[in-house]
Amino acid sequence: MKTPKKQKTGGGVNFQIEGPTLTRAIVLHVERRDRRAPVTSDRASEARLAEAVGLAEAIDLQIAARIIAPVSAPRPSTLLGSGKVAEIAEQVKEAEAELVVVNAQLSPIQQRNLEKEWGAKVLDRTGLILEIFGRRASTREGTLQVELAHLEYQKSRLVRSWTHLERQRGGFGFLGGPGESQLEADRRLIQERITRIEGQLQSVVKTRALHRKGRARVPYPVVALVGYTNAGKSTLFNRLSGASVLAKDLLFATLDPTMRVISLPHGRKIILSDTVGFISDLPTSLIAAFRATLEEVLTADVILHVRDVAHADTEAQSQDVSRVLNELGIDEVRRGQIIEVWNKLDLLPPEERAAREAQAMRKPGCVLVSAVTGEGVSPLLEMVEGRLGAEDLIYEVFLDPADGQGQAWLHDRGEVLSRRSYQDGRTRLKVRLTEDKAGQAQARFGRNMKLLAVKKAAAE
Ligand code: GTP
Repeated sequence: MKTPKKQKTGGGVNFQIEGPTLTRAIVLHVERRDRRAPVTSDRASEARLAEAVGLAEAIDLQIAARIIAPVSAPRPSTLLGSGKVAEIAEQVKEAEAELVVVNAQLSPIQQRNLEKEWGAKVLDRTGLILEIFGRRASTREGTLQVELAHLEYQKSRLVRSWTHLERQRGGFGFLGGPGESQLEADRRLIQERITRIEGQLQSVVKTRALHRKGRARVPYPVVALVGYTNAGKSTLFNRLSGASVLAKDLLFATLDPTMRVISLPHGRKIILSDTVGFISDLPTSLIAAFRATLEEVLTADVILHVRDVAHADTEAQSQDVSRVLNELGIDEVRRGQIIEVWNKLDLLPPEERAAREAQAMRKPGCVLVSAVTGEGVSPLLEMVEGRLGAEDLIYEVFLDPADGQGQAWLHDRGEVLSRRSYQDGRTRLKVRLTEDKAGQAQARFGRNMKLLAVKKAAAE
């Protein structure tokens, strides 16, 4: 069995698997049982475990065993009780596992103790998410964000170990003196790197804002897909855009936004934007670090919240997404721009499907689809068009042969529907403009421009 080689990359620490051998891992879901709170259903625990397994598979681990461990009194030293720790040690040995993925937040001390008890490397939930983010980040901004999140994570671990040591040695009174400990030096190095990355990120975000400004001149509204990881965003994105990219069964395949221009049923064009998937219990520090990745959502005209309604945890997932959208500053007014897309309709048994259909009828702004079969996609697009709501103004514009820039001007600000050249050198363009752009065009083209039609977008 080959041990994974730990390698520092721009996006954090990655496990490089040598050759075809995958790292054998056990996935352990820790179910907190608060005596006062209602007991989580087994189905929900299973779903959480399945999600953790999905995440682990996304970093090429071979899952040798999956375990659910209920915990009602978390122990500071190992989180789990000693009996459970010993039981899992047996399973680690039996499965010849090199890694245990613990689906919970572990303190550095808990992580170290468990590694010792189990004789295997331990990765907690934050560490696992960072691994995935590190692998998926492809743009400069994404990579920097991941590295930043990773450093913050390391820093918090150092701080905690440091206080721990301080407490142990505090009585001798030599701390705080002129000597600088290794930990302090490490912490300083990490902080320096954090400051540097924050600076780099700021300039990357600025460049992005410039790009967005450039795009804002194109009068296509932006429609952003958001949703829980594995809800089917990329599949829907592909279905809607006809693009054959990113179809996969891996989580987090889309860290950085992907964009396509697509046409709605009545011809209106939109920019469709796919975003990174949300996950449950994403530590707040990571939400902050990935905020800029989701910036597209903040400026989107319509947000499609894609939900996997066939998932056991669908309601909790939906609440997670809504909470994060709130944290991102999607206010009440903007909430009117959200369409709930209830995906994976094809997986529902008939009676559940009928119940969902009835529910969707009562709830405005939601639509049932199957990204795989394409069912429900047309009504969804109609709804998007309805949400955009604005009137489209269709003009014909005659361009003088001398007006070389005229065509580019219209292409930049409107949607050119047709183009015809005449023998006298003039060109006639049919162009769709929004109201404000039509005003600008009138100022520029004056009498060479004539309104042909006003098209209302289809109502919902
Ligand atoms: P992240 O990139 O992790 O955020 O995931 P995502 O939301 O983009 O999900 P993705 O499109 O990758 O789909 C996840 C899995 O669900 C894939 O295996 C898809 O084939 C499957 N899937 C998506 N939509 C449907 C659907 O309507 N029906 C069925 N049966 N499967 C679907």
